[in-house]
Amino acid sequence: MQPMIDTSPRPAAAPTPAPLLDIRNIEVVYDDVILVLRGLSMEVPKGAIVALLGANGAGKSTTLKAISGLLKTEDGEVTRGEILFDNERIDGIDPDKIVRRGIFQVMEGRRIVSDMTSLENLRLGAFTRKDNEVSTDIEMVYDYFPRLKERTGLAGYLSGGEQQMLAIGRALMARPKMILMDEPSMGLSPLLVKEVFAIIRKINRDLGVTILLVEQNARAALSVASHGYIMEQGKVVLEGTADELRDNEDVKEFYLGGAGDQRKSFKNLKSFKRRKRWL
Ligand SMILES: Nc1ncnc2c1ncn2[C@@H]1O[C@H](COP(=O)(O)OP(=O)(O)OP(=O)(O)O)[C@@H](O)[C@H]1O
Ligand SMILES: [Mg+2]
Repeated sequence: MQPMIDTSPRPAAAPTPAPLLDIRNIEVVYDDVILVLRGLSMEVPKGAIVALLGANGAGKSTTLKAISGLLKTEDGEVTRGEILFDNERIDGIDPDKIVRRGIFQVMEGRRIVSDMTSLENLRLGAFTRKDNEVSTDIEMVYDYFPRLKERTGLAGYLSGGEQQMLAIGRALMARPKMILMDEPSMGLSPLLVKEVFAIIRKINRDLGVTILLVEQNARAALSVASHGYIMEQGKVVLEGTADELRDNEDVKEFYLGGAGDQRKSFKNLKSFKRRKRWL
């Protein structure tokens, strides 16, 4: 009798694809002395929207600047660990070279050029490109944000929401593989937050752009993200799928419950301490 062992060749398990962005245990120091990121690790799969959440001063913007290379402009430095994009080290590289590799950061507070028109701002976003499809892409941005086409005056006169749309539009003009967005909801009415996030989701789906989304508005961010990280004092303290985070009692209390500025530290929570596996 044949042994009941299946010896037929099996296909090897599909290897998990390497994440597009892989941050490994980085430390970031400003002015040679101020340690802000203390061993932060996170991954962003290709094509995903990942949310990075946390209270004021947690180090969210610092994380984005470490990725985009903009830390250098603030006398900051990655002093430990590594950042890989498309399997290549990018920490320590100049910001314009990082843009050329395909990462574009939309800064906190919609840093558009206020004494230029929307159109000029959009053209600025294409500064690394040498192809002749810039006009086509400007039309594409206008399709996403029709209001920008109507406003022909200086960008400084646009409303907060329109400036946010212009900042996102300008990022698209670089044809990036990945966009880093720093608090796109800041200063917007709930209705506009909905509108901007719907467009973020659409851009991700239509163009396949990978997005790392920094937010204090956890509800809005988790409504579009597939995965999220919560950071506190320069470290990730919790991570999971968007559903897991939304259902997590501590996240509910501190980030979804409208606790506002009254929220305490995650680390002080009894229920949080019990879950050592997250630490
Ligand atoms: N250029 C800098 N020089 C020195 N310290 C800095 C610099 N930028 C940020 N920091 C410090 O690093 C810490 C994290 O700041 P960061 O801006 O990354 O936080 P954040 O999570 O983005 O906060 P927020 O939600 O308020 O935007 C803060 O304590 C801040 O004071
Ligand atoms: Mg910030």
